[in-house]
Amino acid sequence: MADWVSVADASQIATDAGITAFVDDVEVAVFRTSDGWRAIEGRCPHKGASLGNGTVSGGCVTCPWHDWQFRLDDGQAVDRPGVAVASLAVREVEGRLEIDRDSLPQRGSARDGKHDDGIQRFLVRYGALGWVGRFGTVDGVDCRFRDCVVVQTERGVELGEVLADPADGTGAANGKPTGEVLRVAASDELRQFSQRRREVVPVLISESTAALTDAALPLEIVDGELLFDGESAVLYFLGESHPDAGPLVTDVARRHGLDRIELCPLLDPPPTGCGSCGCDEGGGGCGV
Ligand code: FES
Repeated sequence: MADWVSVADASQIATDAGITAFVDDVEVAVFRTSDGWRAIEGRCPHKGASLGNGTVSGGCVTCPWHDWQFRLDDGQAVDRPGVAVASLAVREVEGRLEIDRDSLPQRGSARDGKHDDGIQRFLVRYGALGWVGRFGTVDGVDCRFRDCVVVQTERGVELGEVLADPADGTGAANGKPTGEVLRVAASDELRQFSQRRREVVPVLISESTAALTDAALPLEIVDGELLFDGESAVLYFLGESHPDAGPLVTDVARRHGLDRIELCPLLDPPPTGCGSCGCDEGGGGCGV
């Protein structure tokens, strides 16, 4: 008999989009297509990205990390014979999505949360704000405490510093990785990157500040960082965000050979609601 487990609200998912959820400790990805609900194992068999964050098109999902494609009907990888993720039974009941636990693949002792999923996890500090996350690899990257590593995050390719090696972090019990450890950074590339960063970041900050001041926008750029891919940058600001700010700083970034620039607030906006539980859900609050 089927063993249905509730995983999400159906209203959370738009057509041709997906979400990530967990049944016990197994990651699953659920998608709304024009032909109905589809569910597959959520972890990409290549290097562990979450397929629920992938792009849906033509009945397939494209992995967000390296573009492998999987058919939503049966989990088969497109143009990769023998590669597949499990297709899972999914249904909607009174607005909730349910997965049949019995359709999950049996992998070791997955249900008791103690199996090793083969992903080495390193604790890595990254980004100008010093975020810390567990980064995974299945390629056996040989790095140790304090090594400088190149990591793939949702922002792009950036540098990180290893805070703990896999002895402290192997196994599925440590959850979904924040991103992927690609390799240890070579000293030559670190030198080149550091020089480009010294050249580009101050100019981005000063020219963006000038552009925002000229347009009388209420943002103060206080810091910036160049990602290791050399194509993306982030500017941190105080003040209120404004829809005209993005295009202005994008113009500045393009003048300096960057493809992408992101404006990131350093402080959350003050709450606008009365403070009662749930008042500010979705933003706006009650205005009291
Ligand atoms: S294609 Fe999915 S992790 Fe590489």
